[in-house]
Amino acid sequence: MAKIITIAHQKGGVGKSTLAINLALCFQDQLSVALVDTDLQGSLYHIREEFTELAIIGADKLKDIQQLAYDLIIVDTPPYLSNRLPELFLSSDFILVPTKAGFFDVMAIRSTLALIKEAQQKAPHLKAGIVLNMVKPRSGITQDVADLLQSMGTPLLQTKVHDRVSISRSSITGGILNGTDRRAKEEIMALTEEVVEHISAEIAI
Ligand SMILES: Nc1ncnc2c1ncn2[C@@H]1O[C@H](COP(=O)(O)OP(=O)(O)OP(=O)(O)O)[C@@H](O)[C@H]1O
Ligand SMILES: [Mg+2]
Repeated sequence: MAKIITIAHQKGGVGKSTLAINLALCFQDQLSVALVDTDLQGSLYHIREEFTELAIIGADKLKDIQQLAYDLIIVDTPPYLSNRLPELFLSSDFILVPTKAGFFDVMAIRSTLALIKEAQQKAPHLKAGIVLNMVKPRSGITQDVADLLQSMGTPLLQTKVHDRVSISRSSITGGILNGTDRRAKEEIMALTEEVVEHISAEIAI
């Protein structure tokens, strides 16, 4: 059965779709990957012509995705707490929560994390991780944010994705791996590896 990685945060503009595309492109060397956009107006569904090598599937197929013949399914979700999320979380293997590194940005992930924790009580195999995205180069995380992240109970991934022009343009340039920004590539590859480490053993990359 396909492994499912869901990318969720009820706030808009934190990089869910950007990370979804770049993770999918990174995994697809080794695995057959489908990208699912649960949002009918979703950005992924609109750019599917740009990424003909990726299977981008609409939300209508969500019920059947696990039956489809893929190794890995990456699910992008909309910027609100949709009533579909609990069910989606329960069928996921890993939930990635991207956030910016400001104090109030991190505060804002709490309701998403609460939903994840509810799902984890019913599905103990479900893993989750927070990834800092759009981190300003040369600025670390402030102590108050570090403390807040510590108190969240959901692990913070070691990989930080920085604010990079190459990443903001990656959905029109065919993805980070396709480009020339070496540091951006390293970050996306490190993120991919870290996600793999969190998911149980069967999918080795
Ligand atoms: N690491 C990054 N560096 C620079 N720009 C980024 C980075 N990550 C995302 N962006 C840019 O930030 C904007 C928001 O990203 P994206 O659309 O992926 O967010 P989202 O969480 O999917 O938003 P929504 O919830 O509205 O669908 C986009 O313009 C994207 O190109
Ligand atoms: Mg999006």
